[in-house]
Amino acid sequence: MRVPKMRVRVCGVGSYLPKRVLTNTELSRSLDTSDEWIRVRTGIRQRHIAADDECTSDLALHASRAALGQSSRSVDEIDAIVLATTTPENTFPATAARLQHKLGISRSIPCHDVQAVCAGFVFALHSAWNMLLLGQVRCVLVVGSEIYSRSIIDWQDRSTCVLFGDGAGAFILESIEEDAFSKNPCGYILDVMTSTDGSFYDMLYIDGGAGSSTNVGHLKMNGSVVFREGIAKMANSVTELLSRNNLRAEDISLLVPHQANQRIMDGVARKLGVLQERVVSTVGEHGNISAATIPAALSHACAEGMVKRGDLIAITAMGGGFSWGGALIRW
Ligand code: UT7
Repeated sequence: MRVPKMRVRVCGVGSYLPKRVLTNTELSRSLDTSDEWIRVRTGIRQRHIAADDECTSDLALHASRAALGQSSRSVDEIDAIVLATTTPENTFPATAARLQHKLGISRSIPCHDVQAVCAGFVFALHSAWNMLLLGQVRCVLVVGSEIYSRSIIDWQDRSTCVLFGDGAGAFILESIEEDAFSKNPCGYILDVMTSTDGSFYDMLYIDGGAGSSTNVGHLKMNGSVVFREGIAKMANSVTELLSRNNLRAEDISLLVPHQANQRIMDGVARKLGVLQERVVSTVGEHGNISAATIPAALSHACAEGMVKRGDLIAITAMGGGFSWGGALIRW
C-alpha cells in the first residue's frame, strides 16, 4: 500500500491582547524604575493585562477564533488542540480541554497542553506537525496563551516584572497530500526543531509549584545568562534549520524571533546576518508574552502586509529549561 506523503499548511494565524494597557510610566509610579530604563534596556513601552474575569482559556479563545476566521475553516474541522502555556488555568486539567469546550467542540478529540515556557509555541508546533505528518489528524489548532500578570510575577521585583505581559496567539494547521499540494505549493511548514538543556534549569524558573512546594511561586531569572544563551540558542536553531534544508540566511524574508527584549532580537539578527528590516518586532507593544509571542508577532506581520506568498519565514524562541527551537515556513 502506498502511504501518501503529507505536507502541513499554515492556513490561519490570529492573536489577542487584553484591552487594559499598563505603560512603563504607570509602572514607575509604584516601582523604582523609569520609562527610559525599560525602553533603552528592553525596547518595551507597555504590556497588556488580563481583566479580572479573563482566564488563560479566554485569551486563547479570542486568538483561536481570529485564526479560524483567517483560515476559513470551521470549528467542526478541528481534529486536535495543542496549547502551550506556562500559566494554565488550573494545575489540571489541561487548559486545552477548557478551550475545546469554550469553542463548542462536542466531538471527542485529543487536546493537551505543552510546557516549554517561552519556547512553548515552537514545541506545540512540533508536536502538531508530527501528528499531521503521520496522518493521524487533518486539522490542528495550535495556541500559545499566557497570563503572567496574575500570580507568577513578583510586582516588587523590578528586574523581572517590567518584562512580561498577557496575550495569546494561534495557528490553524492542516495536512494535505503531496499530490494536491504540488498544484498549489505555498503556505507550508518546511521544518521544525526543538531542544532542551536542563543544566540551565535554575537560570530561569518559578520558585514554587505543586510538586515541590505549597504555593505557585514567583519568576526568578539570571538575566545576563538568559540574555547570552538566548541569542546563541535562537541563532543556532535557525542556522541548523537552514543548513539541513540547503538554505542560507540571505534566503530569509522574515525573521520572527521570540519577543523578550529588542536587544536580544537584534543580537540574533546580527549573528545570523539578517537585516533589521526583515525582523518582526512587537515587543514594544506587549512585552514578553512567553508562549504567545511567535503567533502574535506573525499575526501582526500578516495584518501589516509584511508577508508575501513565497516568502521564507524563520521563527525561533528560547525559554526556561533552557528549551529552544525554531521552524521554517514557506508562505
Ligand atoms: O524569554 C526569556 C525571558 N527573559 C529574558 O529574555 C530576559 C533576558 N535578560 C534581559 O533581557 C536583561 O538581562 C535585563 C533586561 C533583564 C537586564 O538588562 P541588563 O542590561 O542586563 O541590566 P543589568 O541586569 O546588568 O542591570 C543593570 C542595572 C542594575 O543596577 P546596578 O546593580 O548596576 O546598580 C539593576 O539593579 O539596572 C538595574 N535594574 C533596573 N533599573 C531600573 C534592573 N531592572 C531595573 C529596572 N529599572 N526595571
